[in-house]
Amino acid sequence: MFPAGFLWGAATAATHVDGGDVNSDWYHWCQMPGKIKDGSSCFTACEHWTRYEEDFKIMKKLGLKTYRLGVDWSRFQHAPGAPFDRQALDHFRGMLSSLVSKRIRPLLTLNHFSIPQWWLEKGGWTVEENLKEFYDFIEFIVPGVGDLASDYITFNEPNVYAVMGYLLGDWPPGEKGLGGYLNSLKTQRHMLMAHFKLYDYIRETHAQKNWAAPQISIAKHMRVMDPANPENPLDLDRCREADYRFNRAFPDSIQEGRLLTPFGKGEKVHDGNAWDFFGLNYYTRDMISFSLWNIGSLFIKQEFKPDAPKNDLGWEIYPEGLYRLVRDVHERYGLPIRITENGVADGDDHLRGDYIKSHLTELHRAMQDGARVDAYYHWSFCDNFEWAEGYSARFGLVQMDYDSQKRILRPSADLYARIVRSGVVPA
Ligand code: GAL
Repeated sequence: MFPAGFLWGAATAATHVDGGDVNSDWYHWCQMPGKIKDGSSCFTACEHWTRYEEDFKIMKKLGLKTYRLGVDWSRFQHAPGAPFDRQALDHFRGMLSSLVSKRIRPLLTLNHFSIPQWWLEKGGWTVEENLKEFYDFIEFIVPGVGDLASDYITFNEPNVYAVMGYLLGDWPPGEKGLGGYLNSLKTQRHMLMAHFKLYDYIRETHAQKNWAAPQISIAKHMRVMDPANPENPLDLDRCREADYRFNRAFPDSIQEGRLLTPFGKGEKVHDGNAWDFFGLNYYTRDMISFSLWNIGSLFIKQEFKPDAPKNDLGWEIYPEGLYRLVRDVHERYGLPIRITENGVADGDDHLRGDYIKSHLTELHRAMQDGARVDAYYHWSFCDNFEWAEGYSARFGLVQMDYDSQKRILRPSADLYARIVRSGVVPA
């Protein structure tokens, strides 16, 4: 049995579902031939921005207690220095009010990869002076909605953003090579600095306005990393390095209030607490080995385990990984944990039911063994625009017919609703 007050939820983010925004870097990226697997664009997506009421009714029907959603800055400010769009703010307030009236608690992500195209053209996260403009957006959005939402994710997965945009070059701005590597570190350094600033700012704003005390964190993508050959000291060594760089460096920096290696030299930049819970996004595991050929990635070779069960994107399905990471996060950071994303690309829904059951069983086991976990957000509420995969990867509890914009509940959604209602994971 999960505890009575457990927050059952589902997650999306603005670019994945909203549609109708021509000012984001992702909209521009979609216009470039060959960037999106199925040649599609995020322009339509699920029209969630206008059809939100229908979606929230489905959430209510499923019994969800909370919904993780995002805001894209590009929707609110269309050019450098331009006034913020008040109409868009009113519209977004309407969305949040609708959730609140249905007793679905919003968890608001302030940055989920997308940024305004004009800001990317100025260097985006790689330029420290640019942060000022991001803070302007925060000083518009937080006072604008803080009476309706008090749970925040400042940044979604800074590590994934850095890898995909600056090391692999598959996402905007498509950088690679040495310059990309250095920029991947700068983006994360500046996001860290911004996180500290946002944490204090959001707390102060809520206190001044007498709004509910906020709960703030990041959504941290963590992957289990195991050595391909546990007997090989080189594999073990590269595995430790990959694990530190990808999984630990950013949260360790938040915990210590420092810019730790490789984002800085350990300089102290923040005193006191800078997060109230740990937001954990978990999907899969990597097997790590040493490879002389992988000079550009510090001799680290990352592969999925051969012969393991896989999802539609070829990622290993490894439920025990959730147990391992939750235990580890609990011991390292001592914070309450929310699973801010967990889910599976599975177009015909033959995997999702078992995926949910096995992962929740492992989560429950970690809780029995001492970890405090307050919430679980299934990724995703509905099929959506999955970045460079376009609409080809389907993560939804709700199936999307993109031609008609019809929402169709998958059998796994019914299963999830039963778990939400009973707090019990069926065998
Ligand atoms: C996460 C990301 C989401 C979505 C999900 C499924 O890493 O935060 O935006 O892409 O993976 O692949």
